[in-house]
Amino acid sequence: MENETLTVIDNRTQKTYTIPLYKGTVRAMDLRQIKTGPDDFGVMTYDPAFMNTASCQSAITFIDGDKGILRYRGYPIEQLAEKCTFLEVAYLIMFGELPTETQLKDWVDNIKYHTMIHETTKKFLEGFRYNAHPMGMFVSTVAALSTVYAESRNVHDPANRMLQIHRLIGKVPTIAAYTYRHSLGYPYVYPDNDLSYTENFMNMLWKMVEPKYQAHPAMARALDILFILHADHEQNCSANVMRSVGSSLADPYVCVSSAAAALSGPLHGGANEEVLKMLDEIGSKDKVPAYIESVKAGHGKLMGFGHRIYKNYDPRARILKWAADRVFDVTGRNPKLDIALELERIALEDEYFIKRKLYPNVDFYSGIIYQAMRFKPEMFTVLFAIPRTVGWLAQWQELIMDAEQKIARPRQIFTGHEVRNFVPIEQRAAIAAKA
Ligand SMILES: CC(C)(COP(=O)(O)OP(=O)(O)OC[C@H]1O[C@@H](n2cnc3c(N)ncnc32)[C@H](O)[C@@H]1OP(=O)(O)O)[C@@H](O)C(=O)NCCC(=O)NCCS
Repeated sequence: MENETLTVIDNRTQKTYTIPLYKGTVRAMDLRQIKTGPDDFGVMTYDPAFMNTASCQSAITFIDGDKGILRYRGYPIEQLAEKCTFLEVAYLIMFGELPTETQLKDWVDNIKYHTMIHETTKKFLEGFRYNAHPMGMFVSTVAALSTVYAESRNVHDPANRMLQIHRLIGKVPTIAAYTYRHSLGYPYVYPDNDLSYTENFMNMLWKMVEPKYQAHPAMARALDILFILHADHEQNCSANVMRSVGSSLADPYVCVSSAAAALSGPLHGGANEEVLKMLDEIGSKDKVPAYIESVKAGHGKLMGFGHRIYKNYDPRARILKWAADRVFDVTGRNPKLDIALELERIALEDEYFIKRKLYPNVDFYSGIIYQAMRFKPEMFTVLFAIPRTVGWLAQWQELIMDAEQKIARPRQIFTGHEVRNFVPIEQRAAIAAKA
């Protein structure tokens, strides 16, 4: 459109520039022409933490944070959670369309074909201390797969990329389950390809001496829904790491490992573990008001609350609340739910949280469900990483195929010293004393 431009007047030079708008954005490179003279580098944008910068074009996930909308490839998350299996959604995220029956069968077969991990990788896992954090084991073991599949470095070959995608989606539940068994000192359970993706994961977690493990159908479905809700979330911290590391053309194993490392932080995927610690610390419903007052006074954050993009209810949290009831029908009610509900009730009426648009996010309820399913809190972020591997890989595919992308390399505003002369070591103490 003709009027899709900005007129910028540089008050330093009185020059006027016409800057095109592209899909509502300014291309930062178009600002470079705004200079005070030939020696001037030109105007840059400054945006710590990417508060208002689009780093890519993506067709995968749409979020409207004000309206509380989340869609994968155009389909509302509520419909996908109700009607699909996780691997069906994984196909949609990866290829852009829901699969036909034949496409789904092939996709599932391909993933199941790759669920085993090499025995040397199993030995690698055995080397961790008994009390190693499962997320540290997960991050390291996924990275170690890079040494097993050397051909994965050939990232420009589409068939090779797809093979690694099948392998990664197939193997992450196996690695995750092995980290869990390792921390308990139990023998590892090999994958059972008669089972669905989530049933097989549960088999590798909980099979003991029975010849065939059978997951409770309601629990397997709940886990499938949890996986669907966590599969992608556009340009979040870990997706950005996936793209940033991927932009150097590193292989997908180290890329996924780096993304998982970003996920492990308490402000990102690690928040669900922190929610449980917080609920333990609060202890009982009557202590909730005092806890909220201490958060408002600046003593820590209400974990599982707030989101960079959602400034309304996180739609995933609403589905999780529903899934929690299905799980509690089987497991009995997790007493922590009462504390969580009270926290939510009081916080949503409180001026501090209303003003800052802080609502429960996906991590607020997922931990309570996982705990009811008998997972230890240290496993929660690993449970997030399994389905998010699909999102990371779809973002990586998009990156590699995007002709506009190059190695990601931000600029900086240099705030350090101007050039200065070297000071010999024997003179430094005297200079420091004078300063
Ligand atoms: C998710 C999160 C990192 C988003 O951060 P952000 O977009 O950078 O938002 P900010 O940190 O700028 O927060 C804006 C304001 O709300 C406050 N705030 C944000 N999250 C808060 C929380 N969980 N509890 C209490 N106050 C919170 C901030 O202190 C800030 O207050 P101020 O304006 O008085 O300084 C942040 O909300 C958070 O740390 N939440 C807890 C961790 C969590 O649940 N993470 C999982 C995300 S899915």
